[in-house]
Amino acid sequence: MTAVQHATRERRTATSIPTDSPFHLENAEGYRRWRDAKLARFPASADTLRVDVDNIEHPTTAERAALREQVRKANMAVYHCARAVDRESIARFGEALGLRRLDEHLCTEEDGISELRVSEGGSKGDYIPYTDRPLSWHCDGYYNTAEQTIRAMLLHCVAEAAEGGENALLDHELLYIVLRDESPEHVAALMHPETLSIPANVKNGREIRPERTGPVFSVDPASGALHMRYTARTRNVRWNEDAPTRAAAARITQLLESGTLPIFRLRLRPGEGVVCNNVLHNRTGFRDDPASGRQRLVYRARFFERVAET
Ligand SMILES: [Fe+2]
Repeated sequence: MTAVQHATRERRTATSIPTDSPFHLENAEGYRRWRDAKLARFPASADTLRVDVDNIEHPTTAERAALREQVRKANMAVYHCARAVDRESIARFGEALGLRRLDEHLCTEEDGISELRVSEGGSKGDYIPYTDRPLSWHCDGYYNTAEQTIRAMLLHCVAEAAEGGENALLDHELLYIVLRDESPEHVAALMHPETLSIPANVKNGREIRPERTGPVFSVDPASGALHMRYTARTRNVRWNEDAPTRAAAARITQLLESGTLPIFRLRLRPGEGVVCNNVLHNRTGFRDDPASGRQRLVYRARFFERVAET
């Protein structure tokens, strides 16, 4: 690492977890209560997450309540809107759910909302979301600073591919429960402030983003909610090299491939979308067919807030 890179390296510092938080490893009783309540209300299938929204620019009180209810249970909701939707209406929809601060990241349009479609040439083609290749498990913004933590994310399908393009979604709190029940040591390793580093993004000798280091699991000081920062990428990531971290990271990989977790798989149809508290997700590869006009287009918005609870 050069001196410049070292100087610009950004670290997420460990925030102390209140002793009465269910995520404090010594609060076994509080954890058990939180865990039992979470599992009792967790939906059995993605179908129960669905909410019809007539006009996403102005969701009704009942529609907003139904969406928030699903998010409270599973950190995500799936909605369908029959009307035409543009980027502006996505922003209004977010606002109606308490999502006001958009992450204006490298590839977003000026309003902070990305149009995910296959990019021909240009710098966007360097990033897998803008290709038809599969996207492995991740939470959005794992390379962001702590100040720019992505707490909520929205995907809205405008047009579907000819084939493929299915998303899988996993409430990260369910993964946390499995890991903590198996071994609190896994969780302790994953909460370490140096668990996972993403090397600097350097292009043509210019540093676009410095290296970022931080935990996988953290507790949001404002809401007390559990946050996950993760990528299943194996290239251009560096895990802490101690044995507990290696074991915990390997266990996450195994669990994601095991078929035992409540993973919801859905292929978004035009007019459908997902709004979530940045749960774990992936996407299969897809094939567009320009001749028949079937070319996948998904709007993506990322927010610094979580979906409002009330
Ligand atoms: Fe993503």
